Amino acid sequence: MLHTHLPPLSSVPSLRDLFAQNPKRFDEFSHNVCGIVFDFSKQRVTQKTLTALLDLARAQQLEEWRASMFAGDIINTSEKRAVLHVACRASENSAIPHVAEVLMAKKRLLDFAEKTRANGSFKDILCIGIGGSDLGPRMVVKALSHLKTPYNLHFISNVDGSVLHGALQKCDPKTTLILIASKTFTTVETMMNARAAASWLTHALGEDAIKKHCVALSTNEKAVTDFGIDPAQMFPFADWVGGRYSLWSSIGLPIALAYGADIFEELLSGARAMDDHFRASPLDQNIPVLMGVLGVWNRNVLNCPTHVILPYDDRLSLFVKHIQQVDMESNGKIVRRDGTVADDKTGPQIFGEPGTDSQHSFMQLIHQGSDIIPVDFIGCRTPDHPFDDQHAELLANMLAQSRALAFGQTLSEAQGDPARVFSGDRPSTTILLPRLNAHALGALIAAYEHKVFVQGILWGLNSFDQPGVELGKILAKPISQALQNNLSLAETDSSTENLLKVITTRP
Ligand code: F6P
Repeated sequence: MLHTHLPPLSSVPSLRDLFAQNPKRFDEFSHNVCGIVFDFSKQRVTQKTLTALLDLARAQQLEEWRASMFAGDIINTSEKRAVLHVACRASENSAIPHVAEVLMAKKRLLDFAEKTRANGSFKDILCIGIGGSDLGPRMVVKALSHLKTPYNLHFISNVDGSVLHGALQKCDPKTTLILIASKTFTTVETMMNARAAASWLTHALGEDAIKKHCVALSTNEKAVTDFGIDPAQMFPFADWVGGRYSLWSSIGLPIALAYGADIFEELLSGARAMDDHFRASPLDQNIPVLMGVLGVWNRNVLNCPTHVILPYDDRLSLFVKHIQQVDMESNGKIVRRDGTVADDKTGPQIFGEPGTDSQHSFMQLIHQGSDIIPVDFIGCRTPDHPFDDQHAELLANMLAQSRALAFGQTLSEAQGDPARVFSGDRPSTTILLPRLNAHALGALIAAYEHKVFVQGILWGLNSFDQPGVELGKILAKPISQALQNNLSLAETDSSTENLLKVITTRP
């Protein structure tokens, strides 16, 4: 078990004492990388703890696994694939495999985006996709929403028909471009939404409209062709780009269409800067490594089941959802790469909401609840709006929250009122972006991606498959057939059987 290789928590002083004993704690535990400040000083660790954590990472061969990923080795062993989303953002002279083919595909994608933008014949873009084929691009489009775009973008992921219905009501088929994003081009939700959108289009404009108005972002050429999409309108990517790591590939087309090729390139360059840092920096200066090992410390020594991300920038509201998939779909598993069951707790539950809204909903529990829940605070030094006082208030709240969590309030400070006692020693990391531009955003996303990789290595997991999502998909098939054809299910439990009856007798 990992914690047996680490100093006990009882050997680590309280955060109050750590700060009181060391006035240079911020200098020692904060880093400026890619223009982003990462302050780990409010994590409950000493240099000794950190050294033990980094020794553990070395013992788990983190450096070798990292080299294997960048070399294109088959590290996604269950699916027998390399893991090379880093190739999508590599530069021309990089030694990462497949870069030449990635650059050619990217040129074609960005030329299409620029031509479409210049042409001006579309006003609305329907982006149909789910999970990794939706969350990343949707998040980036929202995060950069202070930039001008010529389009109304509508993201349709849920199979709930009200989402598509709501979007179609706002669109004119003549001026609508439909992007169908699916790595496999078989995902039920996406294919149902795509078929419904295509029939809305052809109903208004005739069969030929598919050729001009529909674009596919996928690895499955046959399924795309069978759908009727012109190969000239298909933008493929390789199967070594995992779904939740695919916003850097052609899945990112909504970003390039919304803000242009230069912004997309800027996003990639930010991620590339973080990749270079992750690949080359010593472990004790390495942001994704530090984020990863501190997360392991919190999960396996402080026994924290949850990790919260609180962006103090409303444009990053979907960042939490994106990282939730990246983290929970990657490390939400207990069977290790070698087939054995992990004896350590693995990936934490991730949730979050922008501050200050979160302060008025769930922060009560994070300050005084019975579980310790580590927090990542993310803020931007310079805003992209003219309301400086509001920006100051926003960031003041962020700093106040992290102070309250770390240092708490004693009984005497609470004037004897036990309800107002805050335990303190609740760890947090503060991340300060210079401003929310594409470069900083790319670096931030890549930092979290690599953090998840680091933790997967420490826990011995394959972070790049997702067998846990399969069973539900298989079980949904016969239930869906029963519901659509008003049949009863041959073999099922009494709860499902009776719920089906209730559903089929609509009020
Ligand atoms: O939810 C499972 C999953 O396979 C994700 O990993 C993936 O991002 C999503 O479905 C969508 O898959 P696709 O891009 O193949 O439609």
